[in-house]
Amino acid sequence: MFYLDRAATTPVRREVLEAMWPYLTGVFGNPSSTHGVGDAAARALADARATVAAVLGCRPGEVVFTTGGTEGANTAVKGIALAAPRGRHVVTSAIEHEAVLESCRYLERHHGFTLTVVPVDRDGVVHPDALAAVLRPDTTLVSIAHADNEVGTVQDVPALAAVARTVGARFHTDAVQSAPWLPIGLDRLGVDALSLSGHKLGAPKGTGVLALRGGVPIEPLLHGGGQERGRRSGTEDVAGAVAVATALALVAGERAAAAARATTTRDAVVAGVLAGVPGAVLTGSPTHRLPGHASFCFPAVPGVAPAVTGETVLLELEQRDVVSSSGSACAAGSTEASHVLTALGLREDVARTALRLTFDAGLRDEDVPVVVRSVAEAVGAVRALA
Ligand SMILES: Cc1ncc(COP(=O)(O)O)c(C=O)c1O
Repeated sequence: MFYLDRAATTPVRREVLEAMWPYLTGVFGNPSSTHGVGDAAARALADARATVAAVLGCRPGEVVFTTGGTEGANTAVKGIALAAPRGRHVVTSAIEHEAVLESCRYLERHHGFTLTVVPVDRDGVVHPDALAAVLRPDTTLVSIAHADNEVGTVQDVPALAAVARTVGARFHTDAVQSAPWLPIGLDRLGVDALSLSGHKLGAPKGTGVLALRGGVPIEPLLHGGGQERGRRSGTEDVAGAVAVATALALVAGERAAAAARATTTRDAVVAGVLAGVPGAVLTGSPTHRLPGHASFCFPAVPGVAPAVTGETVLLELEQRDVVSSSGSACAAGSTEASHVLTALGLREDVARTALRLTFDAGLRDEDVPVVVRSVAEAVGAVRALA
């Protein structure tokens, strides 16, 4: 089986499972307890925090452990906007994950904020000029993802964050999809907050990190015992923190080689599908895109082939042992055209034909023709039926 849906989730790595095991069993203490059992857990939590800080190039106190990308984005967007609003204006892009979009809409609905959504170009790129054009003296927060999950486009976050700074707005980036592939960090990207998810990195679902620059006030989502320096109450998930720290450290060590390898494979997959499927188009940027991320649409070719829906191609592909996703993976089950693809200027009927293949460096050169043939056969089969 070819698992080509790693942007959706990854299996837990053995090293990660082994690192977290003691904290699920023998060293089970509550880090807030004032006895030896609790101390051991507190030490593990501190070590995990230091590990994450080293990878992200920030201070341990700037690391908040979360349950994943959704919580990180909600905490950053709502928390920063509500803590010390310079004004009631927030900005995001047209291709954000729902975790960011819905957090912004919540601020609009319940707290009197105005939301401005910055458009993207046909490749899914947010241009700094487009951001500059919508900023206001009362803009409190800008949230733009480092890389898009549907089309893999990577943004120039340092340039966008620099634009936000000109009006004094805080900047959050959703680094869930870039974390496995690209060097990330608060200083490296010039941002105030960065969220990532453990389950995209080989750690379990329900783990994640929000890096939050020291001195940035935040209103927590969860109130209670004041854990995580008051930024997230609740007894800490020590094993989860150890897991995400271990996964992040492993990924950081492997990233450069894995990205180079997966870029080559991705380019071969893209070239193969574009050559092998009549009318196929690549979605997202051909150049500024994540390694291991290939996404396509299969619009109708007049007089030659009818349009297919991505969902039917997925089913055909699975019969050929290739597991993948449509463009609207995060709204699985939804028949609506993806807001990301329509923001790129694709018509809704074309957006419904999306297919996303995401893989890691383990996809071998000899696998590429097999995958490409499977895609061509699957699209051909669906087109023949239609
Ligand atoms: C870009 C992006 N942001 C946020 C999330 C949400 O992360 P989680 O599943 O950890 O809540 C995802 C998950 O697919 C994602 O791709």
